[in-house]
Amino acid sequence: MLLSKRTEMFHPTRWPAYFSRAKGCRVWDLDGREYVDMSLMGVGTNTLGYGHPEVDAAVLATVQAGNMTTLNCPEEVYLAERLVSMHPWADMARFARSGGEANAVAIRIARAASGRDKVAVCGYHGWHDWYLSINLADDKGLDGHLLPGLEPRGVPRDLKGSVLTFTYNRIDELKALVAQHDIGVIKMEVSRNHRPNEGFLQRVREIATAKGIVLVFDECTSGFRESFGGLHLNYGVHPDMAVFGKTLGNGYAITAVIGRREVMEAAQSTFISSTFWTERIGPSAALKTLEVMEKCESWSVITRKGRRIGERWSALGERLDLPMAVSGLPSMIGFTIESPDWLKYKTLITQEMLKAGFLASNACYPSIQHDDADVDAYFAALEPVLVLVRECLDGRPVDDLLEGPPCHGGFRRLS
Ligand SMILES: Cc1ncc(COP(=O)(O)O)c(C=O)c1O
Repeated sequence: MLLSKRTEMFHPTRWPAYFSRAKGCRVWDLDGREYVDMSLMGVGTNTLGYGHPEVDAAVLATVQAGNMTTLNCPEEVYLAERLVSMHPWADMARFARSGGEANAVAIRIARAASGRDKVAVCGYHGWHDWYLSINLADDKGLDGHLLPGLEPRGVPRDLKGSVLTFTYNRIDELKALVAQHDIGVIKMEVSRNHRPNEGFLQRVREIATAKGIVLVFDECTSGFRESFGGLHLNYGVHPDMAVFGKTLGNGYAITAVIGRREVMEAAQSTFISSTFWTERIGPSAALKTLEVMEKCESWSVITRKGRRIGERWSALGERLDLPMAVSGLPSMIGFTIESPDWLKYKTLITQEMLKAGFLASNACYPSIQHDDADVDAYFAALEPVLVLVRECLDGRPVDDLLEGPPCHGGFRRLS
């Protein structure tokens, strides 16, 4: 149900796939085998680690008091107030339970507010029709060409041309889109694989303001990773709306759309509603998660840890003379090794690291629970595997080392 959790994304035949329990930065598979998660930590959801005691206690208290009734829970009001107070430009909030859903809500409100249909994007914003319509081409054979890996079959062809793409950091591309089309909404991540060029985000803001375009920052992944709230707070550029998800509930489902009153009030003129957006576990978990995050400044802890991991990868890569590139926000750091056999090397790394007791690939989302001993043990196990990669780069057949087919690549982004 989630591309990023498919075994083919890691090691098609060796990745354990299912877990029985998880705690801190550790996961146990169905056979009770223990792994330190040096990979995606719940695909970016658990920056406080798995099973955080304070968050779990808040959730259990909610379960005991009642999760769902005919009436609304006050926690959603407290959470709205909290998120709005952290983002002084915002006045109102709406909640959903998945990132794609929250993005669809944001797009509906933004289109309603601007009165225009066309959207400019440069990142990934979920699975819904509005977004996947990007990949509808004039020629059916070319469907999927813009963002390979995101197949749009089943998305109505009539949506073709309603969402247009620009490349991150290419203000000229955005300008051209805005000049040629009646764009009503710009939706983008603040930063993902690259940092914004000097003035880029400011220029996006200026273009949006000048043309009456609603600017939406999708902070589903970047939020709470480098700041207490949206990453945009660090750049001093304010959108009209922002979307949060992933780590907001530290593993419990809760996502949010916040925005300026003038824009958010357009929600009253369109139908947006869902039963389980009103359950109580999500906002209870989020309120406690925010409290714990603030207390321990989790965003700076995970940034520091991720930066150190990136530095150690680079040092190892240099020592072994690997064509390695390290990139990404420090708290979701990744590396690649330049080679036509990269996916095979990536699979080999996962395969050998599993034997050493690590869920590991080429990206690491550290949590506050990863301690120095975990990271040291990870690097002690990784070094001999990268020595194998070095040998393969020098001619040793990697196929002789692989105990199954290579992993698949993910989908492409323009960010
Ligand atoms: C920036 C961004 N937006 C939206 C989503 C979609 O969120 P979800 O998978 O919870 O629907 C993701 C997920 O990876 C994301 O990274």
